[in-house]
Amino acid sequence: MREQGPGPEKIAKIWINGSPFEATTDMSVAAALMRHDNMQTRQSVSGQPRFAVCGMGVCQECRVRINGHPHKLACQEYCRSGMVINTETTGLGV
Ligand code: FES
Repeated sequence: MREQGPGPEKIAKIWINGSPFEATTDMSVAAALMRHDNMQTRQSVSGQPRFAVCGMGVCQECRVRINGHPHKLACQEYCRSGMVINTETTGLGV
């Protein structure tokens, strides 16, 4: 059996911290960040890296900025073409 990739209608070309990335429309932003090898969504007040924990919108550890909107939950958002995602690496908040 031949393995098939996602159809063109499922491809979501997104930007993660300024870097282009090809995700799919059935992929959460948190999953796209993992695939992109970006395992930090934000920093704790003491500067520790944080990433998605619960995957169901409870822990709030996956907050990122999406299309300029802060505090979006990466585990609750599906990737859409043109999406611009920024994670926190500076401790200044997302
Ligand atoms: S991973 Fe817990 S709220 Fe998103």
